[in-house]
Amino acid sequence: MSEKRLCQPEVAGVRECARDIYILQFYDPYLAQNSRSGQFIEIKAPRRRDILWRRPFSIHNVQPEAGIVEILFHAVGRGTEALTHLHKGEKLDVLGPLGSHFQFDENLREALLVAGGLGIAPFRLMQQELSGRGTPMTLFYGVGGEEQLCGLDFYQKTTDLKLSTVDGSRGHHGLVTDLLMDYVRSNSDLSGKRLFACGPTPMLRRVQEIAKEFNMPTQVSVETIMACGFGACVGCAVPMTRPQPGVKEYYLACKDGPVFNMEDIIIEG
Ligand code: FES
Repeated sequence: MSEKRLCQPEVAGVRECARDIYILQFYDPYLAQNSRSGQFIEIKAPRRRDILWRRPFSIHNVQPEAGIVEILFHAVGRGTEALTHLHKGEKLDVLGPLGSHFQFDENLREALLVAGGLGIAPFRLMQQELSGRGTPMTLFYGVGGEEQLCGLDFYQKTTDLKLSTVDGSRGHHGLVTDLLMDYVRSNSDLSGKRLFACGPTPMLRRVQEIAKEFNMPTQVSVETIMACGFGACVGCAVPMTRPQPGVKEYYLACKDGPVFNMEDIIIEG
């Protein structure tokens, strides 16, 4: 596991890639070479004394040779809005890499990635990791409407992409888990296929049901509210499937996660 560290990297650029969804790039060769898919970093924007806490962001992509790290974020509040106004060369306050990452076992033959909305964030880096080991990928990617889709050209070239939108503006009209269910039902041999999921809680609950019904090993990156990011505030508790009363009944998403084996956690909410 890579050591987390506090650093002040320079911004390389910020761009909008879908409506209100941005990619922030910054230079940090250590993070670019030592981050794994599913891990996250905590970032605080410069020049904003009104924003006290760093905020967690999944690592979206890295360019190890250029020393560049990318995060994908939705500009919805003061903290994320501040990031959209950054300029090249400004210094950030960054802590990371933090948390657990997705694991690939030796029997992995095909990766089924299930992304809901901004849950696509860790899968750009995962694509890089899996293509390095020659593993085929099917990406089930669902959003509310087509204006929220990010990186389609890239995923079309590098994965077997299956799209859905809730409003029917692109791909399957409905939920991304409908597409996943169709896929697993129509595949008689699921051995060596592994599920990796990231997205909103209702989507994860449905993935959990499908994984159980078809007995598929599944890893999930949970989206919980985080504050400190390193196990001090206990604000990111995730109930364990097999609690040890009086010893340990909850995992901490920031420390034990955010990536868990699906069978180890109860998805609440
Ligand atoms: Fe504080 Fe997890 S965010 S303990």
